[in-house]
Amino acid sequence: MGMMSFKLALVLIISGVAYCNGGTSSSYVRKTQASTDLPLSVLSSPPGYNAPEQVHITQGDHNGRGMIVSWVTPLEKSSNFVEYWKVDDDKNKQRAYSDSKEYSFCNYKSGHIHHATIKNLEYNTKYVYEVGNANTTRRFSFTTPPEVGPDVPYTFGIIGDLGQTYDSNQTLEHYNSNPKGQTVLYVGDLSYADNYPLHDNRRWDSWGRFVEKNAAYQPWIWTAGNHELDYLPDYGETVPFKPFTHRYHVPYKASNSTSPLWYSIKRASAYIIVLSSYSAYGESMRVMFEPWFVENKVDIVFSGHVHAYERSERISNIAYKVSNGNCTPVLNSSAPVYITIGDGGNIEGLANKFTEPQPSYSAYREASFGHAMLEIKNRTHAFYSWHRNQDSEAVLGDSQWFYNRQWYPHEESSTAGTVA
Ligand SMILES: *[C@@H]1O[C@H](CO)[C@@H](O)[C@H](O)[C@H]1NC(C)=O
Ligand SMILES: *[C@@H]1O[C@H](CO)[C@@H](O)[C@H](O)[C@H]1NC(C)=O
Ligand SMILES: *[C@@H]1O[C@H](CO)[C@@H](O)[C@H](O)[C@H]1NC(C)=O
Ligand SMILES: *[C@@H]1O[C@H](CO)[C@@H](O)[C@H](O)[C@H]1NC(C)=O
Ligand SMILES: *[C@@H]1O[C@H](CO)[C@@H](O)[C@H](O)[C@H]1NC(C)=O
Repeated sequence: MGMMSFKLALVLIISGVAYCNGGTSSSYVRKTQASTDLPLSVLSSPPGYNAPEQVHITQGDHNGRGMIVSWVTPLEKSSNFVEYWKVDDDKNKQRAYSDSKEYSFCNYKSGHIHHATIKNLEYNTKYVYEVGNANTTRRFSFTTPPEVGPDVPYTFGIIGDLGQTYDSNQTLEHYNSNPKGQTVLYVGDLSYADNYPLHDNRRWDSWGRFVEKNAAYQPWIWTAGNHELDYLPDYGETVPFKPFTHRYHVPYKASNSTSPLWYSIKRASAYIIVLSSYSAYGESMRVMFEPWFVENKVDIVFSGHVHAYERSERISNIAYKVSNGNCTPVLNSSAPVYITIGDGGNIEGLANKFTEPQPSYSAYREASFGHAMLEIKNRTHAFYSWHRNQDSEAVLGDSQWFYNRQWYPHEESSTAGTVA
């Protein structure tokens, strides 16, 4: 099955290598001052005693029949289950029980963080679910994906480095307004709580409340970034990724992975590989993984971290090594397209300094906030578009048809970018 799907890799790759002359640089110049975080008072808890909050879902197995439902109860543990039913069958309610845990970070103490895995859902079915059934009950819904197969149309949103600023809100509102999105591929760097003294973990809570408007209804496929490290040894916080791994569960065991930072899932017509590179790798990881991306016909590699948007040609760096100084990647139609989409809108602002002149590998680049959509149509075709925040959702800032490397390895016309 794997060989039939569109293969997508979500990675955080840190690399800074200069090459020569290429495609389109948008001339749009955006304000460069850092964005401001939304006040905590605006991202407040929902009303009601011990109301469940920060509700989010993600895929809970390898093939899309499982869902992990997560929520936080601030005061008491109860209740420790999620109740769910098919939308047209509320006589048949079922429960999945949660593990709940708490953690502390410096002077912060978390609420009760619940994760319940619902298994054996029917494909392509809308379910309603309820959490917090002891005191304040809240109700949400989700739709399961169709069964895994090559010709299953399915649309992903792609968001990275979101944070919780006014710009982040614009990105999320835009994505939310697009009726096509079914699942979010999140390429890392979530709350930016680490911008605050002692990594004020109340900002992890407010981020959970902020993204709930989408993440409670559509699964977000999580990748951890450097802002999830939360490593503060001077204050005794020496377990990397502590807040992230307590709050965001992923189905890594279903792909026999030993770490939540590395896993894979199949969803409809996509095979998604999640690799969090920041912890120990970087440039060396890119060099290590690229031959494997080419060999396995990975179609697109999405990465975050750099706060701007850039889409590459299909390029191979295999000859390139830090040591041999051979730094010219070559066009290679077997190689993936690399898309940097770290432009969700976080507090650090935009990265406005591109390598000049535009390198030959770079098809389109722009320092604007936004998000992308990937509409897989069938085994051969997928339509990709990038939507900048300053335009309405209907405007495509950049777009390209992708042809599956396995089934239709023809060259795409790669210069569809439109300049603002
Ligand atoms: C919350 O629910 C529990 C169990 O139903 C009940 O005993 C308790 O009185 C409720 N607390 C409040 C403040 O309503
Ligand atoms: C986010 O944007 C929406 C739409 O513009 C607006 O209604 C909402 O109040 C904003 N949220 C916050 C927390 O500012
Ligand atoms: C995980 O390992 C089990 C046991 O070896 C195997 O049956 C299963 O197919 C593996 N899962 C994946 C996704 O490779
Ligand atoms: C593209 O990359 C593959 C894998 O490294 C290699 O076998 C092939 O020769 C390359 N093609 C070109 C045109 O460089
Ligand atoms: C796959 O989708 C593309 C784009 O919508 C379409 O042009 C093509 O005919 C489809 N292929 C098949 C076999 O239906």
